[in-house]
Amino acid sequence: MKIFTTKKDLKDCLSVLKLKKETIGFVPTMGALHEGHLSLIKKAKQKTTVVVVSIFVNPTQFDKKEDLLKYPKTFDNDTKLLESVGCDVLFFPSVDEIYSGNVVSEKFNFDGLEHQMEGKFRAGHFDGVGTVVKALFNIVAPDKAFFGQKDFQQLQIIKKLVKKQRLNVKIKGCAIYRDQDGLAMSSRNTRLNDTQRIAAPFIYKTLKKVRKKFGTESAVKITAWVENQFKNHPSLKLEYFTIADEKSLKTIETKESDKKYRAFIAVFAGDIRLIDNIRLKHN
Ligand code: PAF
Repeated sequence: MKIFTTKKDLKDCLSVLKLKKETIGFVPTMGALHEGHLSLIKKAKQKTTVVVVSIFVNPTQFDKKEDLLKYPKTFDNDTKLLESVGCDVLFFPSVDEIYSGNVVSEKFNFDGLEHQMEGKFRAGHFDGVGTVVKALFNIVAPDKAFFGQKDFQQLQIIKKLVKKQRLNVKIKGCAIYRDQDGLAMSSRNTRLNDTQRIAAPFIYKTLKKVRKKFGTESAVKITAWVENQFKNHPSLKLEYFTIADEKSLKTIETKESDKKYRAFIAVFAGDIRLIDNIRLKHN
């Protein structure tokens, strides 16, 4: 695996590969890699001939400074994992290399997607994500880029970014990778203490029950039921639960047969914020 820290060296390497008609698959990450990331890289390996991974903890997408400071950094383990799945190129730039001394976000209009769910609780988060993803796409110029559906709102926003900015890259959304007990893989899971880790699968268990209920019960009734499930939970605190349209990400009240829906949830275990979602089916 080749490792580059500067845009210039990475671009020089990739331009040679592009001349040889290699297709570039790209998996942007913030490091602290886990099986979920590896599943994206494996998917990229199936679909493209050269896989580039970036590790960059993007300061502008953190609304809380302490979250940025606490973000796990496990570079040596990350490179081992990347080698184990056959990653070809790692881009590991500094903050200055990406932001050239001006660490601010561009302001985007994602047609309202940015104001739903996470957008209500994490001010400026999606401007930060949009800024860094656009910058990385411009540097790597991949044919395809791979993102997990755990961050479903992020995935939809990146699709919107690509459409609005007319970027020449195909966005592939990949299935949520779960631990055996159902907990969605996340770099934050390593920060859970034993009690929190044992409690956390309750999130996905609840979502599975929601999926069952969606056939017969209204979104409003299901939402009240979920809120009640978390009311007196000893280790988990519900931040939001909503059933929303997959395209607009707006909360729904009534179901329409031609629309696709998902249930979205954000929960705190202590100060660790966990999100998850599940596809819902009409009857
Ligand atoms: O999902 C993530 O890890 C980050 O938001 C991303 C897409 C790498 C941008 O920093």
